[in-house]
This record gives sequence, C-alpha cells and structure tokens, in this order.
Amino acid sequence: MQDHVGRMDLEATRHGLPWRRTATTRAAALACAVSLAGCSGVQSALDPAGGDALRIYWLTVIMTVGGALIFLLVTGLLLYAIFAPPERRAWLSGRRTIVVGGLAFPIVVLSGLLPYGLIVMRDTDVPMPGALQVEVVGEQYWWRVKYAAEGAKPEFSTANELVIPVGQPVTVTVTAADVIHSFWIPNLGGKVDMIPGRINRLSFTAERPGIYRGVCAEFCGDQHARMAFDVVALEPAAFEGWRAAQAKPARSPDLPFLARGRELFRAGGCGSCHAVRGTDTDSAFGPDLTHVGSRRTIGAGQFPNNVGTLAGWIANTQHIKPGVRMPSYGSFTGEDLRALAAYLESLK
Ligand code: CUA
Repeated sequence: MQDHVGRMDLEATRHGLPWRRTATTRAAALACAVSLAGCSGVQSALDPAGGDALRIYWLTVIMTVGGALIFLLVTGLLLYAIFAPPERRAWLSGRRTIVVGGLAFPIVVLSGLLPYGLIVMRDTDVPMPGALQVEVVGEQYWWRVKYAAEGAKPEFSTANELVIPVGQPVTVTVTAADVIHSFWIPNLGGKVDMIPGRINRLSFTAERPGIYRGVCAEFCGDQHARMAFDVVALEPAAFEGWRAAQAKPARSPDLPFLARGRELFRAGGCGSCHAVRGTDTDSAFGPDLTHVGSRRTIGAGQFPNNVGTLAGWIANTQHIKPGVRMPSYGSFTGEDLRALAAYLESLK
C-alpha cells in the first residue's frame, strides 16, 4: 500500500512537472509583460518625452546596470573566495585585493558618478531663457496652476491641468499652500518638493506632443494617492489658441437650462470657494472653474470630465474623495444637479 501511494506520488510528480513548468513560464511571461507595460505610457519615467527626462533615464539605466554588474562581480568573487580550492584562490588574499577592490575601484566609480549626477541635476534644474513661466501650488488635494502674463498676453489661473507647448522650455515655480507636496511628471522630468513658504523651480521641455500624467510624489494626507493632474503638450500654435481661450472670461449660457445651472451655482454658494471669471463668483479658495468644461478630467485627475461625473462629484464629494475641502452637496434635486453639471460642462 505504502509502495503504491509512493508510486502514485512519483507518477503525479512526473506528469505534474511539465505542467508546472508551463505555469511557471506563463507566470514569468506575464510578469515580464506587466513590468514592460509599465515602461511606456502617460506616467512612466522609462518613456521620456523630453531631453531632461532622457538625461534622468540614462542616469537611472547607468546606475541600475552598473550597480547590478558590480553586485554580480562582488558576489562572484565572494563565492569564489569561499568555495574555490585554497591553492586557486590564494591570489585573492593579499594587500593588492584590498587596495584595488576596496579603495581604487570605489574611488574611480564614485568619482565618475558624482560629477555625472551633479551635471544631470544642474542641467535639469536651471531656469531656461525664453521659458514659459507657470506657477503651480500644491493644495490638499489638487493643483492650482497660474500662467504668468507675457507681453500682451494676460495672466490667468486654472487647475489640475498643465498645458504646455512642444519644443519650448517650461519653468514651473512650485510651492504649497498647506502641507508638503511633490510635483512630478515622470515622462518629462524629475521630482521637486512643494514646500509651504518656499519656492522651488523645475525646468523641462516636452519634445513630442501628447498627454502625460503628473502626480503628487510626497505623502500629503488621506487623498495623496488621488492627487494627479493631466499634462497636455500641444504644438505651439495650438498652445497659443488654448492660452488665448483660457484667458477669456467664461462664456454666457445660451440655453435656459444652462442659465438655470448658473443661477444654482450662484445661489448654492459655489462662489464662496470657486471663481468663474466674467460672473460675480470670484473666490480663489478652490479651483478656478472658468473653463472647467475644457479640462480632460475632474477631481485632480480622477474621473473623465462629463456631465455625469461632474454631477456625481458635486453630490458625493466626501464619498468619492473623503477629506477634501469641498463638502458633498447632496441636497440638489436630480433636475437641479443636471442643470448645474451641464452649466459647468458648458464652460469650455
Ligand atoms: Cu499632495 Cu501627496
């Protein structure tokens, strides 16, 4: 009996092994696919869309590959020193090994890496001449974005979206209104801390048009993980068109339904926190909503921007993103909520 069971186990193992091998191969392939999928996309430091991100990418590659090679070399030497026959490993036990491996090698490697790292830091940090000036303020849990006046082009504010021209350097001046946040667009550059009372700068250039995603890279409270923003890199002419449109006051409602939405916005107290330029609601406490309908997402990069998500957001803010400053406005009737959301969506 014992023998029989033993033989069955052996059979199962014999037949099971190829299956297990296939499963392992599949798992490895899946892991590779998943990790490689992380290499490209709208939020990936491994898919640089500009020179600054490319410099950081190469620094990462050199450090990672170099570190891995040195690790393998040291581990190989260690195993050799332990397991090789004494007469063959004799050459390792001497003053020379310590001088070469313990002093000369680290000095040469680190003396190369330090200036290299400092040069990358300098090149990705300096304000560029002719750069577009944008100020971004981190708030719990959203981004206030201000475009500075430039010649005849007036300044204006927006939120949770950074639109930039392709090929022109952008200097972003960052700070925070409440706690420390960190500004990071992985495809375009490095991270920079946003510290209350302090101004930091970051310059970068987008070299291909596209949509990227920026994130807060410093834990800043409950909704830190839901503090993102869209980065839209446009061709220069399209950027100028966007800029001119954003600087204008909000359009007036052209339908009674939308006019009703605007009235609800005013009567509901939305103006105590939000500004819609061109109307009498002008508080700068929360995000500027003058052209909120033109943004890709709402809730700091959380949901696609449409009437449905806007209505859901207004009615359930504290359920969707607990801890944000905006209370849930659950008392609107369905009809009123639709009018209000449609009005906001019409603010292109
Ligand atoms: Cu803001 Cu994390």
